[in-house]
Amino acid sequence: MLSNTVDGDTCLLQAFQEAIVQQEALCCTLEALADALPKRLDTLAAVQLANSLVPTLTQCYSMEEKEVFPLLRQSSATFEQTLERLHAEHIEDEDHAAILADAIFSFARAPSQGDAEALGYLLRGLFQPLRRHLAFDREVVFPLFRWALGG
Ligand SMILES: [Fe+2]
Repeated sequence: MLSNTVDGDTCLLQAFQEAIVQQEALCCTLEALADALPKRLDTLAAVQLANSLVPTLTQCYSMEEKEVFPLLRQSSATFEQTLERLHAEHIEDEDHAAILADAIFSFARAPSQGDAEALGYLLRGLFQPLRRHLAFDREVVFPLFRWALGG
């Protein structure tokens, strides 16, 4: 029984760690796309990225909000404001990701007519705040979650 709990906790920690790593990789891909604009854009890779953008973030945020936030909320009322801010950032980033995905699809359809500067601005508008959020997840939320799990 005890080992099941320990295994379950390890799985949760791993899942959170993987979600952070996955989002960090996403930031690198978004930055690479921004750097490739306008002439070196790989349109197939851009469309694949646009397709996976919102589902990836939704999946990562869902894990965090269903597993991590409730336990932190239970552990201490002092986290509440921080958790509300993190939740608001998740919503903002998901909204921004949906707008960005549409912009990538439009640009990839007709790169010569697209506004590379506007797309670059949208890309940076997602990966820069997302990196700050992830640094906080990694440096503060993850250790708190491990502590709340008892280890
Ligand atoms: Fe997060």
